[in-house]
Amino acid sequence: MSLSFEGRVVLVTGAGGGLGREYALAFAARGASVVVNDLGTDTKGGGKSSAAADTVVEEIRAKGGKAVANYDSVEDGEKLIQSALDAFGRIDVVVNNAGILRDRSFARTSDLDWDLIQRIHLRGSFLVTRAAWNHMKNQKFGRIIMTASAAGIYGNFGQANYSAAKLGMLGLSNTLAIEGSKYNVHCNTIAPLAGSRLTENIMTPDLVASLKSEYVAPLVLWLCHEQCQENGGLFELGGGWIGKLRWERSQGCTVRKKNQPMTPEAVRDQWDKICDFTNAIKPTSLQESFQSVVSVLPQLDSEGDIGTNPTAAAAASSASSINPSEVVGQKLPPTTFSFDHIQCILYALGVGMSTKDPDHLRFLYEGHESFSCLPTFGVIPAQAAMMGGGLSSIPGLDIDFTQVLHGEQYLELYKPLPTSGTLTSEATIADILDKGSGALILLDVNTFNGNELICYNQFSVFAVGAGGFGGKRTSEKAKAPVPPPKRAPDAVVIDSTTRDQAALYRLSGDWNPLHIDPSFAAMGGFKAPILHGLCSFGFAARHVLKQFADNDPSRFKAIKVRFAKPVMPGQSLQTEMWKEGNRIHIQCKVKETEAVVLAGAYVDLHGTSEASPETVTQAGGLQSELVFAEIGRRIKDVGSELVKKVNAVFGWEITNDGKTAAQWTIDLKNGSGSLHKGPYSGKADVTFTVSDEDFMEVVQGKLNPQKAFFSGKLKVKGNIMLSQKLEVILKDYAKL
Ligand code: NAI
Repeated sequence: MSLSFEGRVVLVTGAGGGLGREYALAFAARGASVVVNDLGTDTKGGGKSSAAADTVVEEIRAKGGKAVANYDSVEDGEKLIQSALDAFGRIDVVVNNAGILRDRSFARTSDLDWDLIQRIHLRGSFLVTRAAWNHMKNQKFGRIIMTASAAGIYGNFGQANYSAAKLGMLGLSNTLAIEGSKYNVHCNTIAPLAGSRLTENIMTPDLVASLKSEYVAPLVLWLCHEQCQENGGLFELGGGWIGKLRWERSQGCTVRKKNQPMTPEAVRDQWDKICDFTNAIKPTSLQESFQSVVSVLPQLDSEGDIGTNPTAAAAASSASSINPSEVVGQKLPPTTFSFDHIQCILYALGVGMSTKDPDHLRFLYEGHESFSCLPTFGVIPAQAAMMGGGLSSIPGLDIDFTQVLHGEQYLELYKPLPTSGTLTSEATIADILDKGSGALILLDVNTFNGNELICYNQFSVFAVGAGGFGGKRTSEKAKAPVPPPKRAPDAVVIDSTTRDQAALYRLSGDWNPLHIDPSFAAMGGFKAPILHGLCSFGFAARHVLKQFADNDPSRFKAIKVRFAKPVMPGQSLQTEMWKEGNRIHIQCKVKETEAVVLAGAYVDLHGTSEASPETVTQAGGLQSELVFAEIGRRIKDVGSELVKKVNAVFGWEITNDGKTAAQWTIDLKNGSGSLHKGPYSGKADVTFTVSDEDFMEVVQGKLNPQKAFFSGKLKVKGNIMLSQKLEVILKDYAKL
């Protein structure tokens, strides 16, 4: 099928000659209505004439095409777009093509040479495109072409002004491609080569004749067609050949060393490696580019490679000897850990937080008004102390470090963690126990922010095969696990880990290949790499934080867990919680196998909220929960007023994946109003059933409740008239 532009309105700037004329003719030949813009200048921007545009318009019309002329400069961007709207009522395609040259060696480039070139090429393209932008966005279709040049990409003697402007247009195009993509507004850049009055003095006549402008037009037409999904591309072309360009970056190398100043000498010494393009990387977005830069930070800012390994699969070893009196009380060399919001966010993602849950945003977005660090991030600065290899240098502790397992973890916070800074951790061997099959080392790590102690960790490390040294079996220094109460849990949260959970979590500093490398995992007796025990620990802790502490990190006091069995990335974690005063007991299972993976675990909170018992929240919680929490607060504040205004009881059934996920009752009839979660004992005047998603749409004002009702998205039982009062209650939450 040939590509038609019937019904499309195309503006080509500088279309009175050269390449622009070719585009205008080609678009018109395929049915487009074309605005032929040209100021009619000479190649340096001097003079002005309507003849150039008129001639092309006549040519198009003579062939039965539709075209109008526009004689404004691209610096009057709005006027050009207005011409399109006046003549044809819309604008679909903008080809930014107008251009002039003011070539000079750099030393001789005047202000005017510089400014004129920027104004016509870069600023002109900006102004014309901006004038078209909202029309394109609103109609959810738009195609934009920027005309760059090889001179900008590679540089060219005598074209400093032009090179700068032309590559500026590429930068502009890169960002427009991102901003426009969700509106089907695409922007691409071409660097053409064609014989024209601009190039006739630098090319041989033969070349001018053979590099015809008509060989450039087909790419421009394809990029501007609705079928073409290319966006943000850069193409070089001429004479019928077309190629695409992209960025390539050397693998590079890190020249900074842990705890040492970074020097220019280190850069010099690594120069060949920095510039070596073997196995080069081809980043395609800022995120990809950024990621490879930040991924080195954890390596530099934490250490070591002895990882957490919640299993008992390793074989016994006899190559150990332990002298407890020598070992206990030994201090490891202090370690420092520098971090900023990036590590906090990476950690939050690593333990499964997601923007799907609006209340996770405070842990994922540094611009959030309550941006916070997850409390369990407190293990990260401390683990550097354990993994830094310090244990192996302790005299009297001769154990096989390949057989070391992470058995238990205790973390206590003395204040909420900062979201950036440099923390120092001091580790001491608190005790060492003889468990027969192995030795249990209790490593206490105090972490300081300056002089202030902010958290304490106890790592219980099990050295398989290192038992039998005649030591004691228990210690009063051990933070012991506590079994949960023997009754049904008060709350259960089921949350899935992703296939890449371990790959993501390790970026927070636990580089043990057991969690990523299949062959390494096989050596440890696992079918596949396993999830970090401290990752499941993070999942469970945040489930408690959400369920019982409104996600408020300042309410978090301490957590203890015993790692009972490994979790495979991709499995679902089921956290069962029992509230006993300020202590929330937890047990975490793999949902698919029912295997208990975190046992004897608990979280201690400062002053628990009256969280609802019998709550089962599926996969990361409901968005509507937030809104109801807000409604609850509002009722507390102005309940009596609302009761007067509304005088009704509203029942809500929030569904998720077609099943009832939560029930709420907003009682604005009795007393001073109340909000109740769970089955309601009284009778609601009206009950609404709606999915979590649609509920949010309604609340955010994106879905009109009446429309939702008529389309079946909102089901109403009871006094339907009362739904009119809904907006009174919900509209205040639109800002959520
Ligand atoms: P051209 O000189 O034949 O066409 C440019 C047109 O733009 C002229 O008709 C001129 O009157 C018009 N124009 C100049 N200033 C204007 C303004 N302020 N407002 C409206 N119209 C204006 O040149 P050619 O070769 O067709 O170039 C088209 C574009 O392609 C230019 O942006 C040029 O920089 C670019 N380009 C061309 C290459 C080539 O090999 N021909 C190489 C790389 C880039």
